Formats: sequence, structure tokens, C-alpha cells
Amino acid sequence: MIFSVQIFDELESTNTTALERARENADEGTIIVAKRQSFGRGRNNRVWSSPVGNLYCSTILRPQRDQQEWGQLSFVCALSIGSVLDDFSLEWKLKWPNDVLCRGAKVSGILLEKESNFIIAGIGINVLQVPHVEGRIVTSIWQEYTALQQQSLLIASAVERILDADQVRLALQKHLTYWYDLWQEQGFQPIRDAWLQKAVGLNNRLKVSLPSGKIVEGVMLGIDAQGVLEIKTGDDMLEKITAGDVFFD
Ligand code: BTN
Repeated sequence: MIFSVQIFDELESTNTTALERARENADEGTIIVAKRQSFGRGRNNRVWSSPVGNLYCSTILRPQRDQQEWGQLSFVCALSIGSVLDDFSLEWKLKWPNDVLCRGAKVSGILLEKESNFIIAGIGINVLQVPHVEGRIVTSIWQEYTALQQQSLLIASAVERILDADQVRLALQKHLTYWYDLWQEQGFQPIRDAWLQKAVGLNNRLKVSLPSGKIVEGVMLGIDAQGVLEIKTGDDMLEKITAGDVFFD
């Protein structure tokens, strides 16, 4: 993917600006970046706290694949963020549908917004700041780094790296290109395989809170060929879940 980067000191939401640009026919790869957001948006109409120091960016994508598959891009984005964390020598895991976790804490957020001929991939990564998120344990790349340093596990070359939101964005662009191209060319299978390798909670009990408010309880079996969560809720009972928040006991 060829990126065309537009950086702003402050925006309400990089996703909102990217949506406007995409409607004006901006090319795939246009990436809107803000140093802070005055009204960052999270999933399910939540606010995404957006202080200076973290990464806020939204990329316009115009996938060649069938529109019904576009939701799979949340897994593409999650794997891209994971690859960024690899670059910074951090351990990470993935939680359905699109959380990236370091030692169980949320380090990033992904907000996909789709219209008829484009989709916006909005990504926030906590780089230097750890914003408070109601009901969630949160961390940042810096906090994880510091923890590693305290355990003397960090290799010297990693310590010497400059850690800032721009550095993280450059790494993200590189990895998003890799995972997005893989998905465009080969579809969901390699993405699903890579995601399952990193998934937390496989074969464990979990609760899912659905958008309707209903709670589904069972054992996580995995994700299907579309990325839908599969839960065993009883003997021979399989529930498929397309949207919800997952909690482990
Ligand atoms: C979540 O709730 O986990 C998703 C949060 C997504 C936040 C990012 S920051 C960049 C982009 N602009 C926004 O307003 N939201 C996304």
C-alpha cells in the first residue's frame, strides 16, 4: 500500500476526517493522523480518551474483496498492531473481536467504519499515555517497556530506540501493508490462522455481553471462516456471535 500521510495537531476524530476525505474520493492509503483528538470515538459509541503522546490514525481502504468480507479487517488491524509490538520486543495476545493485550491489558483500539465503496480503519495505540478506560485494564507501550526494563529483560538495542507516536505509526504502516496485502491476495485463511495462534481464551469459559444486553456464557471454541466467534453453550449447542464484549472468569 502506498501511504499518503496527513498530520494534524488536533482533530475531533481522525476517523471523522478520514470519512470526509474518502467521500471526496481520496485514494486508498490516505492516512489521517492527529497528535490528539478532542472527541476520539471508541466502539459502541464510547469515547476514546486521546491525550498527546499516543497514536491516533485512520487509513482509507478501498478493498478489492467482497464487501461481506470487509469486517475481517479488524483481525488484519489487530495482527498489524501485534507486529508493531513485536518490533518493540513486547509480548502480546489477541482477544476477540479486536483487542490487542499486553499482560492482559488493552494497549490499543480499532474502529472500522464502512460505506459503500470504502472502509476507514481507525487505530489508536497507547504509546506514552495510559488513559483511563471504564471497566478495562489498560497499558501503554512505554509502561510495558518500563516493566521489561525492571526485569532486565529488554535487549540493549530495543532500549536505544526512540519511542514516540510517529515511530509507532511508521512501524504500523509497514505491518498494515503486509497483513492487508496478504488478506487482499489470499483472503481470510492466513489471517484467521495467525489470529488463532495468538488468541486468548481458546477452550476456556467466557461470557459475552451482546449489543442487545443479553449475556451468552460458554466455552470459546474459536472463530469461523468469517471471523464469527463460536461458543459451546451446552452439549451439542453452538452459538455464533458477530458482535459483543468478551469477559473471562
Ligand atoms: C475501541 O473502542 O476499542 C476502539 C477505539 C478506536 C480509537 C481510534 S483512535 C483513531 C481513530 N479515531 C477515532 O475517533 N477512533 C479511532
